[in-house]
Amino acid sequence: MSASEPTVEELLPDLDALRTALDDVDYLAGDGTVVALFCAARLAQPVLIEGEPGVGKTEAAKSLAAVLRTPLVRLQCYEGIDVAEALYEWNYPRQLLGIRLAEARGTDLTEDALFGEQFLIARPLLAALRHPGPRPAVLLIDEVDRADDDFEAFLLELLGEGAVTIPELGTIRATRAPIVVLTSNRTRELHDALKRRCLFHWIDYPSAARAAEIVRRRVPGSSRLLAEQAARTVERLSTGSRRSNCSVCAPSTVPRSTEPLARC
Ligand SMILES: Nc1ncnc2c1ncn2[C@@H]1O[C@H](COP(=O)(O)OP(=O)(O)OP(=O)(O)O)[C@@H](O)[C@H]1O
Ligand SMILES: [Mg+2]
Repeated sequence: MSASEPTVEELLPDLDALRTALDDVDYLAGDGTVVALFCAARLAQPVLIEGEPGVGKTEAAKSLAAVLRTPLVRLQCYEGIDVAEALYEWNYPRQLLGIRLAEARGTDLTEDALFGEQFLIARPLLAALRHPGPRPAVLLIDEVDRADDDFEAFLLELLGEGAVTIPELGTIRATRAPIVVLTSNRTRELHDALKRRCLFHWIDYPSAARAAEIVRRRVPGSSRLLAEQAARTVERLSTGSRRSNCSVCAPSTVPRSTEPLARC
């Protein structure tokens, strides 16, 4: 690797380096989150992050990708998501066209050619496995608890072995094993098999001081007073009712005025 393209190890020599780098991209991580992201990046171990809505689970993966200057490949899970949307799909119109062209030329398109690379559409999981580098992609499997049991089972090979199997092509191993971050809101319990393959981290509500700092960094033009008020609101609501789904807001969800900053 050239001097201009540092490795993950060079970019993240230790926990402090990661904490500082996250801070530089305006992600304020607690100690546990720093350790979890460090292990994901340096030990090539998938990490499952759970926590209440808005505590920064998705943002953690995005920020790690920014820190590593590598693509974030995001798979947003939902009920009914399947392999065709997550891993790969065959380009049927192109296959048909290929067959017609071969017929017109008086040649045959063999089955191997028909199910070859040129007709394969790579979805997020495959794209992450095949990311050529220089550093591995960060693969965010977001809100995995929304997917069905079958899909969770399908993820096991990827999480455990950094590989996926496509029946027509065989097993595809990662060029550079992606750094995998899964998130869940615990709308349902995940299977033990999946949990066994991941490190686990729970992100708690931020302290009032950190919440204020997050608002200050993330909301353009916010005053100190406003940030403190927002932080107090988050703290009051989060300790008052853990079920109230309060959170620190993203800039896109925060009105520019002095509207309340808790998303509940
Ligand atoms: N620790 C943090 N540092 C900086 N910004 C944060 C942090 N936590 C939350 N935020 C801000 O809050 C927003 C919401 O965070 P995010 O979308 O990551 O929450 P989430 O935990 O994934 O929520 P959900 O469960 O609803 O998907 C982010 O866009 C970011 O602006
Ligand atoms: Mg999220």
